[in-house]
Amino acid sequence: MDISRILLLLSVCGPTWAFTLDLDYGGVPLWINRFLGEPSVLTLKDRMDPGWFRAVNTQSCPLECDCPIQWPTALYCDHRGLTQHPSGLPSRTQYMFLQGNNIAILGSGAFANATNLRWLILDRNQLLSEQLDNVLFSNLTHLVNLFINNNNLTRVPVGLPSGLKQLRLAYNRIEKISEGAFQNLDNLTLLLLQGNRLTTIEEGDLKGLGVLNLLDLSHNLLETFPKHLPPSVQQLYLSNNSLTGLSENSLHGFNRLHYLRLGHNKLRNEGLDHGAFNLTSLVELDLSYNQLTEIPTVPTTLQYLYLEVNHIQEFNISSFCRTVGPTSYSRMKILRLDGNKLEYHKLPPDWVFCLRVLHNIYI
Ligand SMILES: *[C@@H]1O[C@H](CO)[C@@H](O)[C@H](O)[C@H]1NC(C)=O
Ligand SMILES: *[C@@H]1O[C@H](CO)[C@@H](O)[C@H](O)[C@H]1NC(C)=O
Ligand SMILES: *[C@@H]1O[C@H](CO)[C@@H](O)[C@H](O)[C@H]1NC(C)=O
Ligand SMILES: *[C@@H]1O[C@H](CO)[C@@H](O)[C@H](O)[C@H]1NC(C)=O
Ligand SMILES: *[C@@H]1O[C@H](CO)[C@@H](O)[C@H](O)[C@H]1NC(C)=O
Ligand SMILES: *[C@@H]1O[C@H](CO)[C@@H](O)[C@H](O)[C@H]1NC(C)=O
Ligand SMILES: *[C@@H]1O[C@H](CO)[C@@H](O)[C@H](O)[C@H]1NC(C)=O
Repeated sequence: MDISRILLLLSVCGPTWAFTLDLDYGGVPLWINRFLGEPSVLTLKDRMDPGWFRAVNTQSCPLECDCPIQWPTALYCDHRGLTQHPSGLPSRTQYMFLQGNNIAILGSGAFANATNLRWLILDRNQLLSEQLDNVLFSNLTHLVNLFINNNNLTRVPVGLPSGLKQLRLAYNRIEKISEGAFQNLDNLTLLLLQGNRLTTIEEGDLKGLGVLNLLDLSHNLLETFPKHLPPSVQQLYLSNNSLTGLSENSLHGFNRLHYLRLGHNKLRNEGLDHGAFNLTSLVELDLSYNQLTEIPTVPTTLQYLYLEVNHIQEFNISSFCRTVGPTSYSRMKILRLDGNKLEYHKLPPDWVFCLRVLHNIYI
């Protein structure tokens, strides 16, 4: 078989965009940089006959894994019932796929020779915190993406490499973050902790995360709006907790916060201070599936407001506009109020002057 012709075929059929999108279970799509030669698939499952890779690729490859010729630095060992990490990892490996196995233990030597690793995908295994060696990641100075979603971790792994940009720990059983757990992660932009058992965030827990952009704490057991969050966050997800309110200064200092998701909580108007959402950087606010009876006061710069499925009975223009004039009006584009106790024909007559750039209203 003529390899060069197959390679040409692969490159013609493949996506022509430099950046492609691949979904994974952590909830946020993984951006792939094709200029860096990053693999554009997270699994080879059902794509090609593994025997073919073995036949055409002369490079060493652990028996348990597949080494595709088009991504010579990738090692695909996912979805094959492994209970141990493969031995003899080639030192060329930069992208390692181990998701969908049954691995519970990773000893100190597991990645000792894989010092060039950039991505390590361990989603959907059985990893236990007490079975992760403390120096497991210590040599991985090039690691940027570490995914350990859907495992059995009870704490944040220790000794995380300081070059990490993304750390995904969603759907584990983490109850508590210990002080300084992320201390040296100066470059971390994305941290997923949704689907754990966190009840609180203590003062030192998120210390050191100076450039964190997206923080997902949805689906935990938080009862009060967490303090001590990094002020750099632009996307903050706290849906599916048991929050009852926000105080005047809950969001104080979050001057870059654009997207705030608080759906599926227990928010009530009594728990919300009048100035709780007084933040002009906010673009999108999700308050759906709560227990609100009134529309909270939101900044006039807000563009997307989701209030569906609450107990709202009145629509007061002052929630959106402090005054109405040629330049003072709400920038709202989408307003969802369906699943409340409101009717379109009962809106006050002047609402269109305030919400004058609205694209869609759902009642
Ligand atoms: C690392 O590489 C050395 C030398 O090639 C080899 O002896 C050792 O078994 C390797 N360790 C692992 C865990 O693969
Ligand atoms: C880290 O690398 C050093 C030098 O190559 C090696 O001696 C050590 O065993 C490695 N440690 C781990 C935990 O992989
Ligand atoms: C991990 O959790 C799952 C689901 O609760 C459980 O079935 C499995 O036995 C656990 N694995 C280990 C190694 O404890
Ligand atoms: C953080 O990112 C910067 C810029 O990309 C890089 O120069 C630096 O080495 C990174 N830090 C670590 C600890 O890898
Ligand atoms: C929140 O809970 C609802 C209802 O149980 C569910 O449909 C939704 O997917 C959950 N969302 C998140 C982000 O966990
Ligand atoms: C909102 O914050 C601004 C300053 O950022 C302040 O002047 C204003 O009074 C606040 N409004 C409310 C309703 O708290
Ligand atoms: C709307 O809210 C403002 C401020 O809370 C209040 O003064 C006003 O009476 C309300 N208007 C109606 C029609 O309820």
